Amino acid sequence: MDIFSDSGADEQPCVIIFCMAKTYTRYVCRECGKVSAALLGRCPQCGAWDSMEEEVVSAAPATALAGSRRASALSKPRPLTALDLDKEERFPLPIAEFARVLGGGIVPGSLVLIGGDPGIGKSTLMLQMAMELGAQVKVLYVSGEESERQIGMRARRLLHTKSAAAADQLLLVTETNLELILEHIEATKPHVVVIDSIQTVYMPQVSTPAGSVTQVREGAARLRELAKNSGVAIFLVGHVTKEGMLAGPKVLEHIVDTVLYLEGDRYQSYRVLRCVKNRFGATSEVGVFEMQDRGMVEVPNPSEAFLAERAVNTPGSAIAVAMEGTRPLLVEIQGLSSPSPFTNPRRTANGIDFNRLLLVTAVLTRRLGLRLSDQDLFVNVVGGMAIEEPAADLAVAAAIASSYQDKMISADTVLIGEVGLSAELRSVGQLSLRLREAANLGFKKAIIPQTRKHSEPVPKSIEIITARDLRQALAATMMERK
Ligand code: TYD
Ligand code: MG
Repeated sequence: MDIFSDSGADEQPCVIIFCMAKTYTRYVCRECGKVSAALLGRCPQCGAWDSMEEEVVSAAPATALAGSRRASALSKPRPLTALDLDKEERFPLPIAEFARVLGGGIVPGSLVLIGGDPGIGKSTLMLQMAMELGAQVKVLYVSGEESERQIGMRARRLLHTKSAAAADQLLLVTETNLELILEHIEATKPHVVVIDSIQTVYMPQVSTPAGSVTQVREGAARLRELAKNSGVAIFLVGHVTKEGMLAGPKVLEHIVDTVLYLEGDRYQSYRVLRCVKNRFGATSEVGVFEMQDRGMVEVPNPSEAFLAERAVNTPGSAIAVAMEGTRPLLVEIQGLSSPSPFTNPRRTANGIDFNRLLLVTAVLTRRLGLRLSDQDLFVNVVGGMAIEEPAADLAVAAAIASSYQDKMISADTVLIGEVGLSAELRSVGQLSLRLREAANLGFKKAIIPQTRKHSEPVPKSIEIITARDLRQALAATMMERK
């Protein structure tokens, strides 16, 4: 019965039915988790269209509540000082890039969500992790997406990585019924469980289909309960929807301890594993991998990899030093300006924020007098990285100016600094870390903002040129073309 339809004006008030049945229907937004009593075409919270899903909720009987209260009496408050905090155990993970993102290994009893676009390499990375771990501890890999044969064939491709061949404690099962998965976990008592993916898993007692907000949330909550009670570490693979969100993103992100995203351009080989939430370590840590024919290969020195194909001594190329978590990363930023055939010239930003490109372009036009208003501008971060930091502004400005003026930027120079609206160069955090990384990679010159903190030590092997504003910085950077 459609209880919210207008046609039911002379029906009995539906609240009576609710009370008798002890269940009622509500609607939950797939994108943001907003709950509504009526089925709305557009979510009032996040504005998504057609995102409301029906959910049947059973009201908990009063006796059950009383029971749970009695059960909670079993937990006992303890003094904070009595906690043994030094005894933190983690399973060591032989994939160093992955372990760092997790904060140094796998915490028993943790629930980790790994999200990303389809085909980006989540299953590959999870299987690799399971195989590496399977040599030391018991691992259960539950797949609802692929057959055992498919997983086996993939595993064979990955076999010639390190200790993976010795993964005799790795168990495989293809199952989507959560009740049965829980039984398998109970029976096999693994240390680590991988569920690929949470969207394919369903609970038979929940009426909505697999992948719906209710299923995903209830399933994750059950698994969290299991992880906390038994100490098994659980990894959930989650797909990202077309709009770039995990199905039921907010609800899931609240339930799990750690949220990782695997990012990258499908057509390029680099993959970045980024941590956006971590109850057991620092967030915004990244790990860099390269997708090869034998799986995800760690890139221990990404700066070198990103700069490997760089065209030296051509206009429009500048090197920025971005911080990704605790790690400095050198990336090449390319700029190209070209006279536009259109009345509205195009601006294209690949790997940097579009609005920052507009800001930098406006500053170059108004404060430095570059006539960019009739130029198409393209900015690209090489290697498929996405740089969010304003510290890359100076390199973006230099790449555009270098292309426009057809001048070169010396190949051994890095540019660090945020550009303000009056073209002033603003200081950036963790300067000494950035400079040390540039010096380690053989860069000889660094252009940095004048307003840096003088207490910060700088490496001796790199020449530091300070600039007050963008004009000074570019004057120190640009060279005539040979
Ligand atoms: P997959 O892990 O299935 O992605 P997800 O689980 O995120 O959907 O990765 C699939 C892609 O990875 C597919 O396009 C093939 C490619 N791939 C390799 O390039 N090398 C390999 O060794 C493997 C196993 C996959
Ligand atoms: Mg997959």
